[in-house]
Amino acid sequence: MQDGGLGTARGLVDQTDACAAPGWLSAQAPVDFSETLAAGDYHLPVFPAEVAEWMAPGPDQFIIDGTLGGGGHSEIFLKAGARVLGVDRDPEALAHARARLAPFGERFSTWEGNFSRLPEIPEIQMGERADGLLMDLGVSSRQLDSAARGFSFMREGPLDMRMGPSSPRTAADIVNRWPEADIVRILFEYGEESKARRIAGAIVRHRAEKPFVTTLDLANCIEKAIGRQGRTHPATKTFQAIRMAVNEELESLATALAAAPAVLKPGGRLLIITFHSLEDRMVKRFLKHRSTEFLDEPGWPEPRPNPDYQFRLLARKAIIPTAEETSLNPRARSAKLRVAQLLDLKP
Ligand SMILES: C[S@@+](CC[C@H](N)C(=O)[O-])C[C@H]1O[C@@H](n2cnc3c(N)ncnc32)[C@H](O)[C@@H]1O
Repeated sequence: MQDGGLGTARGLVDQTDACAAPGWLSAQAPVDFSETLAAGDYHLPVFPAEVAEWMAPGPDQFIIDGTLGGGGHSEIFLKAGARVLGVDRDPEALAHARARLAPFGERFSTWEGNFSRLPEIPEIQMGERADGLLMDLGVSSRQLDSAARGFSFMREGPLDMRMGPSSPRTAADIVNRWPEADIVRILFEYGEESKARRIAGAIVRHRAEKPFVTTLDLANCIEKAIGRQGRTHPATKTFQAIRMAVNEELESLATALAAAPAVLKPGGRLLIITFHSLEDRMVKRFLKHRSTEFLDEPGWPEPRPNPDYQFRLLARKAIIPTAEETSLNPRARSAKLRVAQLLDLKP
């Protein structure tokens, strides 16, 4: 996902100094989240109609929203009568959604942490299984737009990019300390940046003179190294790659996918929204393998049962947004939704 001038979220955090970190990052007093923002002002959920249709939420259902964000998808489930547990690694998102969804009372609860740790959720530990699990990957518009979080190459802020305190490193750690070869690798791999070597070389030369401190230090260095062509900012892919490395996004997704069958009830639905080709490829391969009943290879006398067969694909192909949705919400442009259902396979 890229920072594409997605409309500025308004609210209390924006009033802070652009270079000051949010409450959980610094010793300063925590930000007051008592003033709630309307869903769309924080983050406009993608695929609202499709998520409602494929999750088919209803009373007596327990749904885990693994990426609570502004709570837009959770609200859809709650309005349909479901009980929802919202998971996020960002305390700001959790505080915001808790205040906004308070009218749903005890039907809504939250858990702070990485969705790669879903099996550790108290409800799951106590033997409960979910009727549905949603993961809407990446960062929220709110995180992207908040200068103090350091995700945006358009706004001056600290080079942070952590989604929450559990993220293992900051963007500054990567650009100021990582070996050049590792920077090249993430720019190629996560950013699909063809000028990765030139950018990494410029980063290493710059930091030898003066360490990077702010988002604009890095954005300007990249612009100087590769110039500006077209409408897309030259730092777009580098920022995306660094964000994915800071938050270990692909590693978290791989762990969460592997854990999903243990979190769902038989018949439970898994909905995953991706914005990046590597993420979508990972989800597609996972679901294809887990929904294949028999495996076959040229050297085998006959197909063999797949020991990992666990899911039924509800939609064979990825669902993509309608033209109407992308015109209302440009962030949805690169979104893909994949949906599957856990099979009831009695031993
Ligand atoms: C795209 S937003 C979700 C928006 C949400 N569906 C809504 O309707 O507002 C992604 C959210 O998931 C969180 N997130 C991303 N990766 C995560 C992970 N591995 N574990 C927990 N939360 C994660 C981010 O902090 C962010 O708040």
